[in-house]
Amino acid sequence: MKFSIASLVVLAATSAGVSAAALGSVACANEVVADTTYIGENKDVKVTYSHCGVTPLVTAQGIEVSSLHKRQGNSTNVCGAQCNTFCFNPSGGGPNEGDCAVIADALLYDSQNVGALFNITASGTPTDKITMQYNSCTTYFLNQDFNNLTYCRTDWSALVTWLASDCNAANNAHGGLCVAADQRWYIQYAHFA
Ligand SMILES: *[C@@H]1O[C@H](CO)[C@@H](O)[C@H](O)[C@H]1NC(C)=O
Ligand SMILES: *[C@@H]1O[C@H](CO)[C@@H](O)[C@H](O)[C@H]1NC(C)=O
Ligand SMILES: *[C@@H]1O[C@H](CO)[C@@H](O)[C@H](O)[C@H]1NC(C)=O
Repeated sequence: MKFSIASLVVLAATSAGVSAAALGSVACANEVVADTTYIGENKDVKVTYSHCGVTPLVTAQGIEVSSLHKRQGNSTNVCGAQCNTFCFNPSGGGPNEGDCAVIADALLYDSQNVGALFNITASGTPTDKITMQYNSCTTYFLNQDFNNLTYCRTDWSALVTWLASDCNAANNAHGGLCVAADQRWYIQYAHFA
């Protein structure tokens, strides 16, 4: 059986995520860090809990906005929730995939040794953004909901691995994010500035 070019293109478009032209990057401005710690087996992945003075909110369609309508969900545990991937184009200047793998491993390590779940405080509070960084790679979880949310460390780990390969230079990208289908949160991965 032969695969047609057309079906390969469709497969690639499906697995490589959607590229939002409006989204070259999203940046947190005037960030205030409330707390810093180090995680993972070697305690070499830096974690900061912070709030952005100007928060980069993103819709489920991958559009950066300055405010979102009231978000609602039935459960504040969002483990396993569906999210939409958007890559930052073009390629060039993305993080080293191996550095992102160290973060993904640290999250798995903490899942097994600290706990499967973590909480993140509501949007607008001093700790509504949790950022992890190792060398060139950084990833953050932003709570866009007015409630505290609970998420699974294994899911964040899987998303870092997914984004770091799906939104890499081979896919004409240098970073990207996955926004919850209900817009209550997103996870971004990018080069550490
Ligand atoms: C959440 O609420 C919506 C609307 O009430 C409902 O359709 C959906 O099935 C609910 N989802 C869960 C997981 O309970
Ligand atoms: C998250 O918050 C809930 C509700 O306050 C609490 O019961 C739970 O222990 C917290 N979980 C973690 C991992 O801190
Ligand atoms: C959210 O979490 C914070 C920090 O753990 C806690 O002080 C606050 O009461 C929680 N809010 C709600 C609505 O559960």
